[in-house]
Amino acid sequence: MSATAPHEPAPLKHKATRPLSTHASEPLSGTLRVPGDKSISHRALMFGGLAVGETRIEGLLLGEDVRATAAAMEQLGATVERGADVWRVWGRGVGGLREPDDVLDLGNSGTSARLLMGVLAGQPITAFMTGDASLRRRPMNRVIEPLSRMGARVVSRSGGRLPLALTGSAEPMPIRYTLPVASAQVKSAVLLAGLAAAGETQVIEAHPTRDHTELMLRAFGAEIAVEDMAEGRLIRLTGQPELTGRPVKVPADPSSAAFPVVAALLVPGSRLTVPGVGMNPHRTGLYATLREMGAEIAFENEREEAGEPVADLVVAASALTGIEVPPERAPAMIDEYPVLAMAAACARGRTVMRGVGELRVKESDRIAAVEAGLKACGVTVESGDDWLVIEGLGHPPKGGATVATHLDHRIAMSFLVLGLVSEDGVAVDDAGPIETSFPGFVGLMTAAGASFG
Ligand code: S3P
Repeated sequence: MSATAPHEPAPLKHKATRPLSTHASEPLSGTLRVPGDKSISHRALMFGGLAVGETRIEGLLLGEDVRATAAAMEQLGATVERGADVWRVWGRGVGGLREPDDVLDLGNSGTSARLLMGVLAGQPITAFMTGDASLRRRPMNRVIEPLSRMGARVVSRSGGRLPLALTGSAEPMPIRYTLPVASAQVKSAVLLAGLAAAGETQVIEAHPTRDHTELMLRAFGAEIAVEDMAEGRLIRLTGQPELTGRPVKVPADPSSAAFPVVAALLVPGSRLTVPGVGMNPHRTGLYATLREMGAEIAFENEREEAGEPVADLVVAASALTGIEVPPERAPAMIDEYPVLAMAAACARGRTVMRGVGELRVKESDRIAAVEAGLKACGVTVESGDDWLVIEGLGHPPKGGATVATHLDHRIAMSFLVLGLVSEDGVAVDDAGPIETSFPGFVGLMTAAGASFG
């Protein structure tokens, strides 16, 4: 176990770009273990920092996004001990964070920025936040607006963009807030601010989003009630709980598993096992969609680990057919549309994705990035504000293009997956961002049979 310096170096703002390509590959086989869930990893570090006592985290994602959260929590006064297999956090209690003496640099991570704004809104301190070029483009008004109602004061760049300064309130007000967009980050920010408020904070979501915040806060000792109403799902949090540190076991990330799973479906003759993948029903929309397209995916050893359902995924290469993805499924697969688009390009017939406007404000404009990349690879694509239609070829595209990734890890991994079945391969201009969510991607995929370089 090695404790490192209290503050890790801030992520570099201008990293050198790292071009990378893939080629038509041998069948993928064996067992491929993907890293820990990004959403759960962020929350384990943040809630551990707000709790009293020790939070022992097993299986934490060691990607750059999560490291940015860890460094920020240290700047706010939490103690973080980094181990090879286990990380430990000692928190300062709800309301006990300290004013950071420098800017919080959240790198590429929207989850770090938005959830920490919620944490900070209920602390009587001032913090400055920034991030990389991608994060500085992303909309923060969606959290600034409810947090201001709760008493936080925020000064940001135009359009609610980073960098920003946030002064939290010593006495934040509980609010009843109906989410204007289906966003677990906004829901979580309001609930985290509500931890410091006297009284009950309520969030209503018309379209249920991932509920890791609710599940984990409850496990740390908060009182949270959830009810289904005509307007949607009502979440009620009782303010000012005593949070107590606890062990957290992080399942493998279903959003990262999506890349080897789609690769194994597409590369003929593949059969791959991805063990211990989180199967929270608010995260598994991609797997339902792929099965509807004809994918052979089995969920084996279904079990519960530390309050989250998990299963081993066993995938075999399959002939896929295009479908219309139900729009109400979008929140349960929002990060997976780019890799679904790769499967759709190879499937027989048209795939229609509607209600996906949120893709325009992710790490990149993912509708535009997918459309440009697929067109360059020889696929017919049409799009609008909140929709994307892909004309599946019924076989892999020819490829041969270099695709712009726009600082977006999921765009990079999606097109590298497509290259594994494309006659002329596919290159991406920058594979560096993969480190934000899936460190070891190239090594693990290579060990399973994928051809890079
Ligand atoms: C996340 C929520 C989603 C998702 C992101 C992680 C979370 O974002 O895209 O990768 O951990 O709460 P939105 O809340 O913006 O939909």
